[in-house]
Amino acid sequence: MKNPFFEGGYPLFDTHAHYDDARFDADRDELLSSIEKEGVGFIVDVGCSFNSIPKAFELTRKYGFMYFSVGFHPNDAASAEDYGEKRSLDMLRSYLADPKCVAIGEIGLDYHWDDVPREIQKRWFELQLQLSLETGYPVIIHDREAHGDVMDILRRYKGVTGILHSFSGSPEMADELIKMGWYISFSGVLTFKNAAKLPEVAVRVPLDRMLIETDCPYLAPHPKRGERNDSSLMAYTAMRLAEIKGLSYDEVCRITAENAKRVYRLI
Ligand code: NI
Repeated sequence: MKNPFFEGGYPLFDTHAHYDDARFDADRDELLSSIEKEGVGFIVDVGCSFNSIPKAFELTRKYGFMYFSVGFHPNDAASAEDYGEKRSLDMLRSYLADPKCVAIGEIGLDYHWDDVPREIQKRWFELQLQLSLETGYPVIIHDREAHGDVMDILRRYKGVTGILHSFSGSPEMADELIKMGWYISFSGVLTFKNAAKLPEVAVRVPLDRMLIETDCPYLAPHPKRGERNDSSLMAYTAMRLAEIKGLSYDEVCRITAENAKRVYRLI
């Protein structure tokens, strides 16, 4: 067992994973076919590029506990632009019609890598927020070092809600998002010694708006930091959240899974 806290209670819901990533090529099926024994009951694989979307879709044909999302990551906005606005959005629409597709994402702004001109990132962020208004699907937001611009844009799309994935903003930003109807998702970063303001965000987030995720293969929690992440290791993030909120491990699993099912409209 890699999950040291699971004793047969409520399983974890990993709201954001990338099992389509090449770092899982050698042992993907071995890992996923035994993940339920590790206390993991639900996984959303985020298809966020031309390369990853069909792979995420394929995984959900194979594993009943897996769901997927579709969207263009800000670092892939230029590819979507090159393929053409109508063709790219129509491709997303066709995947959204699948019963296992639960959200549009991850979409947003990335000023850390800054691989794609910011105007193109913003344009595709807004096109996909409009797609959410058109289709009613929730969105998964990627915000890296772009808090001000992300908030400016989200304030203009009042009818859209969803998840701020691996949230890295301030407690005040989280408060505003919660008032606007958004959910806050914590990755393994919550367990890091240098997590800065994240524990304060976790103190303040209401129980019915908190989620957990791996973002695997990235962001493995302490004490596995630096290793390849997978959904079983999310137990450490759940345990850290349990400590902060004064809950048991099982209560965090149940509450975050119920929240995830609500936001992804699985109940
Ligand atoms: Ni991600």
